Amino acid sequence: MGRKFFVGGNWKCNGTTDQVEKIVKTLNEGQVPPSDVVEVVVSPPYVFLPVVKSLLRPEFQVAAQNCWVKKGGAFTGEVSAEMLMNLGVPWVILGHSERRALLGENRMRYDPGCILCNMFLFVGDKVAYALSQGLKVIACVGETLEQREAGSTMEVVAAQTKAIAEKINDWSNVVIAYEPVWAIGTGKVATPAQAQEVHASLRDWLKTNVSPEVAESTRIIYGGSVTAANCKELAAQPDVDGFLVGGASLKPEFIDIINAAT
Ligand code: G3P
Repeated sequence: MGRKFFVGGNWKCNGTTDQVEKIVKTLNEGQVPPSDVVEVVVSPPYVFLPVVKSLLRPEFQVAAQNCWVKKGGAFTGEVSAEMLMNLGVPWVILGHSERRALLGENRMRYDPGCILCNMFLFVGDKVAYALSQGLKVIACVGETLEQREAGSTMEVVAAQTKAIAEKINDWSNVVIAYEPVWAIGTGKVATPAQAQEVHASLRDWLKTNVSPEVAESTRIIYGGSVTAANCKELAAQPDVDGFLVGGASLKPEFIDIINAAT
């Protein structure tokens, strides 16, 4: 299969200087597989990116949790892809469901006059621009509980992936994170079978709509209540290539999750 295992830690909107230094100390002291076995990327809030990058063990990388859709300028409060590259931040998470839900980055209706209404398409534009500036992207997709219960999981995830595929040609710096919204922060983790089913369907979608090579090489990682207790069973699934971890990435058990790679 040859896809390097990938473990991301999404710290979300958490941390103080002291807490961040403690988390980094735990990460730096952890016994983990070599970097040719597992790729580890931690994503602190913007304000901690420089200090985490400076203190983190060299084989681990950092990611921003978002970035703006175009070149910087009069966009108060935004952080541009260029700024992240200038800081030496190599990765960015885009399209996270919390941003889709809270900031409307999930609307399917395209209305040129309404930037919020086309935020869903926005994610595809964000991925394309970030890649164009040299960033590597963790692109998030996932359905809500209502969509799953309506049996439209794959329809939703395929549409979200299509919105990205329509904007990019080179997938070599893209990792797809399947994060069922109903599992994020809820303690309700997808079963290994549920995760495998969506990951395999996603890989089939890539094979049919992009290319067999992209389908084979693109890492599809799972996010949503991953813990030290459930990571091994999830990692054993053939199309689960790693994790995007939230709450547990702030705890020492994140080291155990990284070791699920072996
Ligand atoms: O991006 C990862 C995140 O959405 C998952 O959060 O706390 O359920 O692991 P959590």
